Amino acid sequence: MASTDQRIPRNRISPPGAGLDAARMPGHWLPARLGKRVLRPGGVELTRWMPDALGVDPQDRVVELAAGLGATARLTLTRRPAAYTAVDRDAAAVAALSALTAPGPTEVRAVRADATDTGLPDGDATVVYGEAMLTMQPEPAKRRVVREARRLLDDATGRYAIHEMCLLPDGLDPALADRITADLRGALHVGTRPLTPAAWSELLASEGFTVTAHRTAPMALLEPRRLIDDEGLVPALGIAGRALRDPAALRRLLHMRRVFRRHSTHLGAISLLAVPTPTRA
Ligand SMILES: C[S@@+](CC[C@H](N)C(=O)[O-])C[C@H]1O[C@@H](n2cnc3c(N)ncnc32)[C@H](O)[C@@H]1O
Repeated sequence: MASTDQRIPRNRISPPGAGLDAARMPGHWLPARLGKRVLRPGGVELTRWMPDALGVDPQDRVVELAAGLGATARLTLTRRPAAYTAVDRDAAAVAALSALTAPGPTEVRAVRADATDTGLPDGDATVVYGEAMLTMQPEPAKRRVVREARRLLDDATGRYAIHEMCLLPDGLDPALADRITADLRGALHVGTRPLTPAAWSELLASEGFTVTAHRTAPMALLEPRRLIDDEGLVPALGIAGRALRDPAALRRLLHMRRVFRRHSTHLGAISLLAVPTPTRA
């Protein structure tokens, strides 16, 4: 059973997004409220690539930043790391994460904290990763999260991975990038700011990481084909059924999907793997 550091009593916790107005709530919680569990832009394809690339094994001490509903946590736990700590700032997400169980002897914890300041010890983790969370932070906060990941990681054995939205291609006209960002903000109601692949690499490099691999995928989060691939046919039908019975949620989802489609040439998903850059003596 997971231990939890969050201090909100369980009986006062609702599922993420419950009770919020579908027209105004943060875009990522709307599909979650309808039952969607895979909330990453690159779907299961990048979600599976990332733990493989990180090579999580039974010696690893893993920290997941913004673990959300724990979909990737479950994949990670099948690799039986020595320890797994989920961090999220949302009380309802931490309540869900605190119910995680490990198939092996992994020490599992859920901590309610901001990813910029987790309160976890320096250099104690061998693996840190975060998905679908940096994109929604303004630039200074993106930088603080990456810096926190670097602080948490062991210098010699550490690996860091992210899975985010990206703008394509490198060198995209800044005016078009601004337009896409504004449209995303209007649809998702969070300060979404994706970067190009080169800009994501530069961000990691400037905070002490060397990017060793990356992979991109189409941004197809709300496409029927991706919904089935990510969730399975029956859950996907359940999500569609709940959306059809909730006109406000359906209108909002269709608006989000229109924006993703309008910019599909320039929007993608990216996962990057990085290691601490050795510091010169
Ligand atoms: C779109 S969900 C992604 C969740 C999960 N990583 C996934 O891919 O399914 C966003 C999650 O990030 C969390 N989050 C966003 N910014 C955060 C931050 N600065 N610190 C901690 N959690 C954060 C939110 O509370 C939410 O649970």
